[in-house]
Amino acid sequence: MPEFARLPGFRDFPPEELGLKSHILDAWRRVSRRYGFEEYDGPPLEPLELYVEKSGDEIVEQLYAFEDKGGRWVALRPEMTPSLARILAERARALPKPIRWFTAPQLFRYERQQRGRLREHFQWNVDIVGETDVAADAEVLAVAIDGLRELGLTSEDFRARVSHRGLLAALLGRCGVREEAVPAAFTAIDKLGRETGERTRARLAEIGLGREQLDEVLSLFEGADTVAIASRYGEDAAVARDLRSVTRCFELLDAMGLADYVQFDLTIVRGLAYYTGTVFELFDCRGELRAICGGGRYDRLLELVGGDPLPAVGFGMGDVVLAELLQERRLAPPYSRAVDYYIVTIGPAERPLALRIARRLRDRGHSVSYALADQSVKKQFSSANAEGARRVVILGPEEAAAGVVKVRDMASGGESTISLEELGG
Ligand code: HAM
Repeated sequence: MPEFARLPGFRDFPPEELGLKSHILDAWRRVSRRYGFEEYDGPPLEPLELYVEKSGDEIVEQLYAFEDKGGRWVALRPEMTPSLARILAERARALPKPIRWFTAPQLFRYERQQRGRLREHFQWNVDIVGETDVAADAEVLAVAIDGLRELGLTSEDFRARVSHRGLLAALLGRCGVREEAVPAAFTAIDKLGRETGERTRARLAEIGLGREQLDEVLSLFEGADTVAIASRYGEDAAVARDLRSVTRCFELLDAMGLADYVQFDLTIVRGLAYYTGTVFELFDCRGELRAICGGGRYDRLLELVGGDPLPAVGFGMGDVVLAELLQERRLAPPYSRAVDYYIVTIGPAERPLALRIARRLRDRGHSVSYALADQSVKKQFSSANAEGARRVVILGPEEAAAGVVKVRDMASGGESTISLEELGG
């Protein structure tokens, strides 16, 4: 046993495991840029206050928080949205709207250990700030969907489930849930799929719902689509308004050719406190994994952290569940090492020339490797293979004297003699 074990819930990234993470992060960056988003970042440590009451109890319970040496209460960032709100509270006024920003930070949450949930993860955040139109909601959903399509996943693999908090609040109101009980009802509904029906009933009963109200609330989630809701509750002004917003969001995604990737699902509420409108989560179609992505509209958060009131919508997508899904679908790229050239020297006398050749090749942008200590030719060839060299440059006393080198193509085995000048020596 090594003396120091890794902390539970944290990962090491040796090269062969870093490859998959880089593959994911590269795809996220490409898609963000394709949609015209600019990259930003912030500090990993923030004032504890930034999360309390803004993110919601669940995340606050999971904070890595402590008092620093200056007596400040600080926390490792568990999510990026409060930092984004803080950064923009200071700068948004000077920026043209809407602001389209993305980032992919490492985040920290002291979670209960379970599949797909660790104590650190990388999370792609894509947000549009300064636009109330539901076209912004559809746009960020399209970015999330394309982020997964870019990695080879299709509508057979995942689905975005979309709902609206305002709509759900209005429907709960129609079922007799008092306004002040709505947040507690949201918490109960958020846990619907993860807890037994009995536990949900108990949670709803705790907030004072009678048997009939309880049955009506639960009937909302039994396959209710937008048409059924409209025909039953459509005369309610708030229901009608938020249903229009949801319907428009689906129309826009349909126009983008993404209808197969989205479905309406009233059980999506989201655990975080700040969402005010559209909410969505992306799941694998087989329903085996935790959520891949979650997001929604949060029109009051910027104001809450002291900025101008600015509407905002965005999402966070983690690398952990996504890596599991890619591995399951055999979409993770195989790890391979590769250098353009490996220089094999027959004896120590050729070493200075080898170093000169390496310098020239590297200056031209090629990757080059060689043995750092004197080694047999056989050992050098086996290192060249292990490092995935595409070509081996062989340098012996005769070649050096004649101003040439032998170059072996490792895939074909073919050898050619070329002048040092040609190689850049
Ligand atoms: P969230 O739902 O807490 O939202 O996290 C978003 C995604 O991050 C999850 O769907 C999951 O893929 C990943 N994730 C979260 N916690 C963990 C964990 N402990 N281990 C592995 N992966 C995890 C937010 O954080 C919002 N701030 C997203 C957002 C951005 N909303 C608007 N803009």
